[in-house]
Amino acid sequence: LMEVAERVRLILKDPQDSLVVLSGCGTSGRLAFFMASGFNRELQRLNYAPVCSYVIAGGDRALFSSQEAPEDDPTLGALCLKKVSEGKKRVLFVGVSCGLSAPFVAGQLDFCLRHPDVYTPVLVGFNPAHQARKEPIPGCTLTFHSVVTRMEELAKTQKAFLINPALGPEAISGSSRMKGGSATKILLEVVFSASFSRTPVTFNGILQHMRSYEKALDFTYSHSEEIAALMEAAGRSLQCGRQVCYLGWGSLGLLGLIDASECKPTFGADHEDIRGFVSGGYKELGNNEGDLTLMGPEFSISHDDFLDGVLPRLTDADTVLLLYSHSDDVDEVAKLARRVREKTSNIHAAYHQTDGDAAAKQDDINKLCSSTVIFTWPQEASKLKSGNAHRLMQREFSTKLLLNAVSTGAHIFKGKVFKNYMIDLQVTNSKLYRRAARLLQKLSGHSESECEEALLKAIYQVDKLSEDIATCSLEMNQCLSVSVVQVVPLALVCLLTGCSMKEVESRLEQQPIVREAMETCLKSS
Ligand code: F6P
Repeated sequence: LMEVAERVRLILKDPQDSLVVLSGCGTSGRLAFFMASGFNRELQRLNYAPVCSYVIAGGDRALFSSQEAPEDDPTLGALCLKKVSEGKKRVLFVGVSCGLSAPFVAGQLDFCLRHPDVYTPVLVGFNPAHQARKEPIPGCTLTFHSVVTRMEELAKTQKAFLINPALGPEAISGSSRMKGGSATKILLEVVFSASFSRTPVTFNGILQHMRSYEKALDFTYSHSEEIAALMEAAGRSLQCGRQVCYLGWGSLGLLGLIDASECKPTFGADHEDIRGFVSGGYKELGNNEGDLTLMGPEFSISHDDFLDGVLPRLTDADTVLLLYSHSDDVDEVAKLARRVREKTSNIHAAYHQTDGDAAAKQDDINKLCSSTVIFTWPQEASKLKSGNAHRLMQREFSTKLLLNAVSTGAHIFKGKVFKNYMIDLQVTNSKLYRRAARLLQKLSGHSESECEEALLKAIYQVDKLSEDIATCSLEMNQCLSVSVVQVVPLALVCLLTGCSMKEVESRLEQQPIVREAMETCLKSS
């Protein structure tokens, strides 16, 4: 971490010809955007040039909607990196892949390794290097593992860097959006804060900063009862087919958008189930491609969009969660809270303040809410390191933990998690497709080929696979799977019961809680 921080410093000294690029897929790409924007804001505040850029697989539409397919394309990854860093003489590339698995990132790292005169690659992930993905990437000689092996060799002379503390598997309850994402945020913020500071980068400085996240984590979970209540409220809304809306301000609002967008591939959710809205919409975000509202309803992200499109049909069965801090425009929060309260009493808030902050206006908001998680941060925490920036990062981290708990908990209530596995995941890229096949093997005890066959039957909604289907490319299968609901549950029930697809569909219709349907099937099989 210290070495990487020094490399960032070199970039800061020569902003004209240098660049830092943060990149990843899914949540990792969203966090790349989140942090690149935050770091640039902080750099400008400190009178440095904003030297950070981001690349997300699938472009900006992937910031708020699930776009898993581009994750499989290493050439696209390399091209995007080349484009964003055109003309630069020195580029520090930070590729994030929690599972050490995304071909998009492998392609970017390979590109860096082939152009060492300009690029220094840093890989952030949470598996040991030997567990990097070994599966061949179609149309390419690389594997993620082969790239990691080359990086390990260069890491000995600090021409490449691997930051990969092991955190445990992603497949269990979507951990890359949760602990992998949180750890990415911690690691990169620790590195970048150290490099922005005018004092030397020291081991103790890094350690102290890391420990402050540990404290923030304990502090956040000291509110676990209130968080659990929020989780229940959100769970009740999802259980009855209603909606959860996060209405946030500043970066806390953006975290709401990020948390919501990952629910679709993780839990097979509809994009309406959990939605995020941020005050100021695209103006607040400053993303590469600007306002995406015209791309469709998923891209309506401002509070005005919420007022126009969601508020009129809100009822007590929907849950609204306000995310804000003492430093936000509290009058605006109160105004929106009042509008929401006219439609639903199921309004809650997660609010951050520092010990000693005046709270008169917040009290008015609290009265409108049926519950408020008040995080009153101790004064000394904000005195650490670079004051405001540090304080904001801690609050963001805390909000991320809270949101991850609420959305995951709500989907558990809805029955989307079975034996700790996300049984209703979407199979929209090769990693998710393989994961689904492995999950079917584990839960049904059938062979790999039988499970793949069942998966295809579920995707194509047929009882027999024709020659054409059996020889279809993986990309085609993944693409078609988007239009089928509950692909994995369909395949599992089919394997366990031997029923026709029609019968399986009607069983799942009768038992819409996926976990219960699986339990019933397993008991009788
Ligand atoms: O393919 C979807 C996904 O699993 C997302 O859930 C996740 O955010 C993304 O891949 C990135 O995973 P990783 O950081 O391991 O490359």
